[in-house]
Amino acid sequence: MSDPQTRQILRQSLRQQRRQLSYEQQKHAAIGLASHLPDHSLIHHASQIALYIANDGEIDPHILAEVLSARGKQLALPIMHPFNDEQLLFQRFRPGQQLMNNALGIPEPELSKPDLVPLQELDVILLPLVGFDPHGNRLGMGGGFYDRTLGGYTPAQRPTLIGLAHSCQQVEKLMAAEWDVPIDAVATGEQLIRFDR
Ligand SMILES: Nc1ncnc2c1ncn2[C@@H]1O[C@H](COP(=O)(O)OP(=O)(O)OP(=O)(O)O)[C@@H](O)[C@H]1O
Ligand SMILES: [Mg+2]
Repeated sequence: MSDPQTRQILRQSLRQQRRQLSYEQQKHAAIGLASHLPDHSLIHHASQIALYIANDGEIDPHILAEVLSARGKQLALPIMHPFNDEQLLFQRFRPGQQLMNNALGIPEPELSKPDLVPLQELDVILLPLVGFDPHGNRLGMGGGFYDRTLGGYTPAQRPTLIGLAHSCQQVEKLMAAEWDVPIDAVATGEQLIRFDR
């Protein structure tokens, strides 16, 4: 499953499955995520946490963001780098803050240099994914943004990476490409799954 065509076919199928989830299923998943994840030790001990604005049927972390913010966590959102369009930057964010659509139509805060958070200061990145397997391999939307941004750091330098997903996004096996950055855990609406490596 490492050749680009097979990855693309799998992406389309998984994206379609999550887009077909009903409003009620999405709401249930978002509430479930916000109920169990804040108490998990990986999040409980974190003070700076990046997350994302849901798009394309992704599990929605906006209720989670409100819970985390109420518990005093500092939150950040990814923004597309203004000069290097292949990299992500992370910028401080408070739930309810005004956002603007970026070139991909995804809402992000307006770039403000003093509010940028160096990646190494983040304790956890909650990142979206299209598919994951039981070994922590991750399939994203295909832009390579997270891989390129995270790939410049050693596993020890990187924040803890927790993918957020609907359980229907789990597959038996993903063949990782050499640039794919594996994740440490996945959180669904029901549970957190940690990967040993
Ligand atoms: N570290 C890297 N160095 C060079 N090219 C990279 C790197 N990471 C990703 N790419 C490029 O990005 C393309 C997309 O990567 P991939 O299919 O793994 O995306 P993805 O993991 O689904 O997306 P994302 O990381 O945005 O969630 C690859 O074809 C590859 O050319
Ligand atoms: Mg990848």
